Amino acid sequence: MSIDLRAAPKAPLFSPIAIGELTLSSRIVMAPMTRQRASQGKIPNDLNARYYAQRAGAGLIISESTEVDPFSTVDVPTRPGLCNAEQEAGWRLVTTAVHAAGGKIFVQLSHMGRTAHPSQLLDGRQPVGPSPLAATGTIYTVKGQEPYSIPRALEIDEIETVTAEFAAAAIRAKSAGFDGIEIHGANGYLVDQFLRDGSNIRRDRYGGTVENRTRFLLEIITAIKAYWPANRIGVRLSPTNSYQGMSDSNPVGHFARIAGLLDPLGLAYLHVVEPPVQPRGQPVTALKLRTAFSGPLILAGGYKRADAESALATGQADLIAFGEAFIANPDLPDRWRYGVPLALADKSTFYTQGAKGYTDYPSLPRVEG
Ligand SMILES: Cc1cc2nc3c(=O)[nH]c(=O)nc-3n(C[C@H](O)[C@H](O)[C@H](O)COP(=O)(O)O)c2cc1C
Repeated sequence: MSIDLRAAPKAPLFSPIAIGELTLSSRIVMAPMTRQRASQGKIPNDLNARYYAQRAGAGLIISESTEVDPFSTVDVPTRPGLCNAEQEAGWRLVTTAVHAAGGKIFVQLSHMGRTAHPSQLLDGRQPVGPSPLAATGTIYTVKGQEPYSIPRALEIDEIETVTAEFAAAAIRAKSAGFDGIEIHGANGYLVDQFLRDGSNIRRDRYGGTVENRTRFLLEIITAIKAYWPANRIGVRLSPTNSYQGMSDSNPVGHFARIAGLLDPLGLAYLHVVEPPVQPRGQPVTALKLRTAFSGPLILAGGYKRADAESALATGQADLIAFGEAFIANPDLPDRWRYGVPLALADKSTFYTQGAKGYTDYPSLPRVEG
């Protein structure tokens, strides 16, 4: 089957949007997705470049979670980092391929915090977090599934060091050719661990009030702003996600306040992921955050095309991020444009090695005008 790109219909999902001086070709964002296929040393490779370039038809690609912690050295299978020259060069392969294919890509910068395992850290060191509270569940290690360990609470000067690690990775992101940064403040990783009161019971200036729990995130943004304009920095939050034992006593109220603290900063966007609720209706938390944050808002979490069109049409969001649909449909925007049915993703290959289930999902043949 071939498609004629000269006959493209118009739909809100396909209207361009300006993020600072960047113009995105559509409201369709590829959600950040860990695929564990970097090379040894957490170094992105040609296969990763091919995977992302295949998906360059998205208005914006957000990369998989990328480690800023230089002590995060061992990982089987392999997530990427952005802490040294080799990792930076690997990412340059990816950004070059995406740009050559006409796409735009932000890197999602992340620190595992309490969800790391000593066997994944240099010298087998103890994972760290805001407080000595372990994540629930198990983690995949070289020895198989193992329970999370109790993290060591970061000292104040260590928090400053981690902030500097985010900034160092952001500098490398610029040299590697990324269009911007997404700070991973979602899904139970270190920034999220600070934000939520179920994982942060500190009594110093990084705990207690919402303002104090948000201080770490705000300091990371300030540090990155020395190297990137604010309108190239996005933040991802997951107020209600209970993944890895995360909780908060008042997610709607607390996260509306967090969104309010982010509002004056002139960020590229706020990206909110919530567990999908069907029928979708009104995403309560996201709507509160929408009121508190006046910049571009990306929503994610189980969106189908119709939900996405409706969220855009009613002003609930400015962009929608899609995850699994992009795994199985590298040309997702084209399939929607031309009404071609979507392929289903094979979950068994989400985190395996090699091209299978990664770069071997076909795109439709194109008839160029
Ligand atoms: C294989 C896989 C890996 C993921 N990795 C990440 C990640 O690295 N960072 C992140 O913020 N979210 C991650 N997510 C969550 C997605 O970004 C997205 O929010 C989620 O899949 C819900 O969107 P969907 O229903 O359109 O797939 C991942 C999801 C999947 C399926």
